Amino acid sequence: MAGHTKGKRSAVTCALKCGNACAMGVCNQSDNDYFKDIVGAALSRRSVLLGAGAGALALTFATSVTPLGGATAAQAAMRGLQFAPIPPIDASVDDFVVPAGYQWGAIIRWGDPILPGAPEFDINNQTPEAQALQYGYNNDYLDIIELQGRGGRHGLLITNHEYTNPGIMFPPAANEAERLQQLRITMAAHGMAVVELEREKKGRPWTYLRSSDYNRRVTASTPFRLTGPAAGHDLMKTQDDPTGLTALGTFGNCAGGTTPWGTVLSGEENFNNYFRSPGTTAGQKRYGLSTSASTYGWEALEPRFDAVANPGYVNEPNRFGYIVEIDPLDPTSTPVKHTAMGRMKHEGANVTIAPDGRVVAYMGDDERFDYLYKFVSHKSFRKGNSEKARAHNKTILETGDLFVARFSGNSPAAEITGNGVLPTDGAFDGSGQWIPLTLNGASAVPGFTVEEVLVHTRLAADAVGATKMDRPEDVEPHPTSGKVYVACTNNTQRGTLGKAGVDEVNPKTVNRDGHVIEITEARNDATATSFGWSILLVCGDPAVSSSAYFAGFPVDQVSPISCPDNVAFDKAGNLWISTDGQPGTIGYNDGLFRVGLEGANRGRVDQFLAVPREAETCGPIIRDDENMVYVAVQHPGEDGSFANQHSYFPDYTAVNGNGLVAAPRPSVVQVWQG
Ligand code: FEO
Ligand code: CA
Ligand code: CA
Repeated sequence: MAGHTKGKRSAVTCALKCGNACAMGVCNQSDNDYFKDIVGAALSRRSVLLGAGAGALALTFATSVTPLGGATAAQAAMRGLQFAPIPPIDASVDDFVVPAGYQWGAIIRWGDPILPGAPEFDINNQTPEAQALQYGYNNDYLDIIELQGRGGRHGLLITNHEYTNPGIMFPPAANEAERLQQLRITMAAHGMAVVELEREKKGRPWTYLRSSDYNRRVTASTPFRLTGPAAGHDLMKTQDDPTGLTALGTFGNCAGGTTPWGTVLSGEENFNNYFRSPGTTAGQKRYGLSTSASTYGWEALEPRFDAVANPGYVNEPNRFGYIVEIDPLDPTSTPVKHTAMGRMKHEGANVTIAPDGRVVAYMGDDERFDYLYKFVSHKSFRKGNSEKARAHNKTILETGDLFVARFSGNSPAAEITGNGVLPTDGAFDGSGQWIPLTLNGASAVPGFTVEEVLVHTRLAADAVGATKMDRPEDVEPHPTSGKVYVACTNNTQRGTLGKAGVDEVNPKTVNRDGHVIEITEARNDATATSFGWSILLVCGDPAVSSSAYFAGFPVDQVSPISCPDNVAFDKAGNLWISTDGQPGTIGYNDGLFRVGLEGANRGRVDQFLAVPREAETCGPIIRDDENMVYVAVQHPGEDGSFANQHSYFPDYTAVNGNGLVAAPRPSVVQVWQG
């Protein structure tokens, strides 16, 4: 992919994370929502070197920087965390950067031992057995759940481990046996982790506990129970599992969500990259399954990853692409995959409780021209932490109705020119419908059984005319206003591929920098079937992009931002956005940004932190009441090689020996004031 990456990322990310999806044909070849095809002006890359140069910095708690000069000084005070925004950090800088007055440190890093018998991390002597007892690679979703009755001093950290970067994790394999051993390590480095944390008191940094009964690893081999209408169906059966009820492992897990009953949801995203498949049926093609060798080569280890050579496993990919749920409070529980929530390249799922007690989950399918979904449970949420209430709540996501979004704009189509200029009514906005795919346990799509809807969800959504979106990533309901925020990360080929021109909700022909949509459900009821919407942010660097739009906030007083990915909220009600892909678009390291939503500060974007070179910012948690922020740092230095590392995050030592690690380690980072 070198030289051919589209819009945002390095060739390494394209290959390992997305299976070079941009270079493949568009999966969505449906005819729904064709508008027009207008070529927009391409945006030039800005490259400004700021601050310290690149290279290893011998720091544990590293750099804070001077504020972005005068950018926001004149604005009304923001509620919540008090900080002066950092300037954008050039993409060559290998450093984690926080505002003046803040410190940072890693809570846990790839390879840190978390289970009994785990050896210390030794990059030159890794084994699959060691890795299965250690913290995994490329942490993405992140949450910290405080343990009740422990004075705020104990909590559980839950992350997933989306994928691996073998080129910087291992030296080149010397022989076939070593190659296979490295493949086994990558299988053990995927999945999820639960780790107990301890701290002196609220507002102080955490340390992780090496031995806790809560600590747990889930890998690409851990048994999962399938739930919902498609569990046990013929489409789910394989040579190894004739019941179609148990799938082994989870991988490609991207964002997620924590439920009000204390379980964690995680989205199985680019699962297709792990399989070889005949790639001949509509269902296989729609999910990008093909006869190509898998990205990770696990077919050399287990026949289930290769249905071309082993036809008894043709349904194995049907057992991936779900929302998984894990109960971190019960380390012996079997994690589950919820078929009722549909099968797609799930970015994640975020849950809210509707006025009538039913549970609503919002979900994005992160691929160009794919869709926005919501799930409305049949059962209602039971309050309280009793065993009975929790046992009930843990079944809520097994049955419900699945919907897909269709958006309409309220401006004349001729005013949506593709260059991002606002229409004459001053807003990209309109209304929308949630179109049912399943209702009351039955299919709502002619020609599809309910099981077919839930396994071939993309095909069912095509059939009902869903709106093709610019890669919907995180979708989260605001905890107090109920408005729903959708991060559309980018799509540079809106005008050229996929039979979908621009429309008012995806208004740029070359959407290099992404946008953020705000949805208001009818009656402010999450179960509603209609909604209003407007675009809150058209991302970009206002210094070079004339279409960058920040809900009307002065564009010369914001931090540049590109490729929105994960969203979160602070206690003060502000939106926070982490990014994935800024180095390839606006030339800056990815970061974490606060966005004002109310009053004079609506649309104000302030950068809080920047992650190191070639890393993505994930899983933000904002605890402004404790002056704490947490992020997961994924794939630092991913364009390097084992012999020529590009990052030494988070320990910043280039010395290989004496137990020091000469490679970047994806980590969970805490940032605190003081
Ligand atoms: Fe794993 Fe959609 O990013
Ligand atoms: Ca409009
Ligand atoms: Ca993501």
